[in-house]
Amino acid sequence: MGATADDAAAPPWWRDAVFYQVYVRSFADSDGDGVGDLEGIRSRLGYLELLGVDALWLTPFFTSPMADHGYDVADPRDVDPLFGDLDAFDRLVSDAHDHGIRVTIDLVPNHTSDQHPWFRAALRGGPERDRYHFRDGRGPDGSQPPNNWTSVFGGPAWTRTPDGQWYLHLFAPEQPDLNWDNSDVRADLVQTLRFWLDRGVDGFRIDVAHGMAKAAGLPDLDPAVVPVRTGAHAHPEADPRFDNEDVHDIHRMIRQVVDRYPDTVTVGEIWVETDERFARYVRPDELHLGFNFKLALTGFDADSVRRTVENSLAAVADSGVPPTWTLSNHDVERHVTRYGGGAAGTRRARAMALVQLALPGVTFLYNGEELGLPNADLPDWALQDPIWERSGRTVRGRDGCRVPLPWEGAPPTFGFSTGDRSWLPVPAEWAGYTVESQLEDPASMLSLYRHALEVRKTTEAFAGTELEWYGAPPGCFAFRRKGGGLICALNTSDAPVPLPPGQILLASGPMAGEELPPETAVWLV
Ligand code: NOJ
Repeated sequence: MGATADDAAAPPWWRDAVFYQVYVRSFADSDGDGVGDLEGIRSRLGYLELLGVDALWLTPFFTSPMADHGYDVADPRDVDPLFGDLDAFDRLVSDAHDHGIRVTIDLVPNHTSDQHPWFRAALRGGPERDRYHFRDGRGPDGSQPPNNWTSVFGGPAWTRTPDGQWYLHLFAPEQPDLNWDNSDVRADLVQTLRFWLDRGVDGFRIDVAHGMAKAAGLPDLDPAVVPVRTGAHAHPEADPRFDNEDVHDIHRMIRQVVDRYPDTVTVGEIWVETDERFARYVRPDELHLGFNFKLALTGFDADSVRRTVENSLAAVADSGVPPTWTLSNHDVERHVTRYGGGAAGTRRARAMALVQLALPGVTFLYNGEELGLPNADLPDWALQDPIWERSGRTVRGRDGCRVPLPWEGAPPTFGFSTGDRSWLPVPAEWAGYTVESQLEDPASMLSLYRHALEVRKTTEAFAGTELEWYGAPPGCFAFRRKGGGLICALNTSDAPVPLPPGQILLASGPMAGEELPPETAVWLV
């Protein structure tokens, strides 16, 4: 598609898009090995079109030993055989486009796998060593790590090699951090970007986009300032591991490549503490969008949700980029469970789905949230997240939110796999969560999402980027989209409250007369 002068004035497609995150291992398995794959996704494109999403974000499917389930990349320009091959990828992109769905993919520039040819050569003492962070240890015999940095997954961020030096890994030891001062590292990323853009991808989700550049000299972190918590997410400014000035130059480099491909988009995973730091990543020559995790960290309480929404809007107000919203992803507990689980968790998740989809900007759905999946309670033997072992089996990790999707039929895999196994066990009691059981049920979570996405796409009330807040009883809020006039009201209290005036477009639960029931949200015009 060539860009015209008219297009130049039109807002980009992603400005109010609904992205659907496919955790590739867990979406659909076409070859019966128990792990989801690209053909599996292709076979379910009809479902995704029916759901009504605009774009996919595929988690890493590149060649990988899978120490961090694909976020340890051994070849960023090929498909791991577990997931298919390049032909399968091309078929998926082409068919997705035929279904009117764009495809964005993960990019993992902070680190590689320890099985990447560069790292293997580095271990053999080759010049590739400069593409990573190798250092002598401290102490008379160098037996202490070069500095006191900790890994996000627990334990020290350094591992010693047989020749006595240490290498840096902010995540697992199988994920050595790249040295972004090395020009080969930069040139290789440009090649990777072009490789996938030439194959037709519509953009990238950039992993650890606040990482990559490290503080000069790799100074110790101050434990008083930087809390050393396993899996800690927001990194204060004083943390020398993340959010260093040089990272912005890397984003400018990425943007220059991407800008040569019209209609593409980048969204960065940015864990920083303040709006000010966040805004720096979405300057006009850096990322198009930044992930905003605030909703995923906020409880089911109207005041907190309103504060989160206002903060999130403020964070991007000056940069003019759209806000982004997300309730869950593959790194955090599923929100049905976070909101208390059971019937209450589901009711609250339904209400929050309407809140998130009423907001201006870009929404990221995580596969399975449209089915109302809870976090699964997995037995110890099933756990595979590196966090479990790295934390000395004290932190269970992220497997519970990564369980394969139940599609239809019966255990053990509910149609996830053409075989009879899945890489994480699907709870036998998930029959009521399958797509099959929800599709025709107007009261199901799936029906709510389908309906909400359709209304959002086809109703002019969703126009405009500014919100106006109404006065509301305690435990409630109501806002109006200033442009189109949509009103969204949320009641997180345990008593019914009067409805704002207007005609109901959609409600997250059964309505009672002129009142908004507890733990319910409604859209009105
Ligand atoms: C963030 C990804 O979302 C997470 O799953 C991964 O473990 C780390 N980055 C390291 O790549």
